[in-house]
Amino acid sequence: EKGGHDYFMLKEIEEQPEALENTLRGHFVNGGIVLDEQRMTEQDLRDIDKVFVVACGTAYHSGLLAKYAIEHWCRIPVEVELASEFRYRDPVLGRDTLVVAISQSGETADTLEAVRHARTQRARVLAICNTNGAQIPRESDAVLYTHAGPEIGVAATKTFLAQITANYLVGLALAQARGTKYSDEVAREFEELAAMPQAVRQTLSTVEQVRTLGRELADSKAVLFLGRHVGYPVALEGALKLKELAYMHAEGFAAGELKHGPIALIEDRLPVVVVMPSAKGRALLHSKMLSNIREIQARGARTVVIAEEGDEAVRPFADELIEIPAVATLLQPLVSTVPLQVLAAEIARARGYDVDKPRNLAKSVTVE
Ligand code: BG6
Repeated sequence: EKGGHDYFMLKEIEEQPEALENTLRGHFVNGGIVLDEQRMTEQDLRDIDKVFVVACGTAYHSGLLAKYAIEHWCRIPVEVELASEFRYRDPVLGRDTLVVAISQSGETADTLEAVRHARTQRARVLAICNTNGAQIPRESDAVLYTHAGPEIGVAATKTFLAQITANYLVGLALAQARGTKYSDEVAREFEELAAMPQAVRQTLSTVEQVRTLGRELADSKAVLFLGRHVGYPVALEGALKLKELAYMHAEGFAAGELKHGPIALIEDRLPVVVVMPSAKGRALLHSKMLSNIREIQARGARTVVIAEEGDEAVRPFADELIEIPAVATLLQPLVSTVPLQVLAAEIARARGYDVDKPRNLAKSVTVE
């Protein structure tokens, strides 16, 4: 049942290409993006002038990525907020606010209450959910289902990649409705998304390398994760996976913040995982990141670098180099996350923990 794997999570990591294919299927019709359920008018969509994304845990990290895509494509301000914080701080909401609620289960109490609060303020709600007919989609004005299939591992993997994909579809649907992108541009972006299952499949060739690395790092006291731009939410997710599965102190930082505090944490042999921006697509960010790696290496960190194939400049600074395919900037998280999932699972396994059922965690938390 685990498909010959030691634990479900590894099977689910390997199912990610199909999860993306299934999530994309049927959403590009007659040259345009379509949602699964749509109870808003075209005019409602055009009138939206503010987006809030609310979610918890891994879904929240996917939401952070939605901000990069929606602001870039739609020119609407986007705020991303932990669902458990959202309704307690009296956010400014109205008819022209779209609240995007992301939840694998569709039953998470914090997210559901955030949705209910948004509706009392007359905001529109769009749900991204992996469970057909769950409570959150039932209470929403529009729904896009991720089709990752049931996820057994308590720590989210394939649903995370599917959520990122769904977020981008929502971004394209909004851009199309608002006219901030021409239809040929929407078509081109969709094509790039459609190429991602293959890129993720290619990334799975790093699994054995990362498993070996995981065993080597299993005795570390802590692991830090650094990212910039879309690599920052990936760093947060890499750290969360490690906390959840390996019960290890792990933190994700925006690399630019390093010098404002976290660099004090660097000590000899501390593993630091760095998600490199694309060398071609983001040359400036790439060179800034190289300086960050230099700084941490000079202080004795053991650098684990996730970088695009052909990124020669980073090689001298990588104690371990994990190569991922070169893809469009916004799409890089779909490939850079994969080795971080494997790393967390394998460190946990090497420490003797149950990867599929981490202590104290539940797959879906229905109390606030
Ligand atoms: C947590 C799960 O309790 O809920 C996480 O352990 C998950 O893995 C989070 O990301 C949010 O769950 P959902 O179902 O709302 O996406």
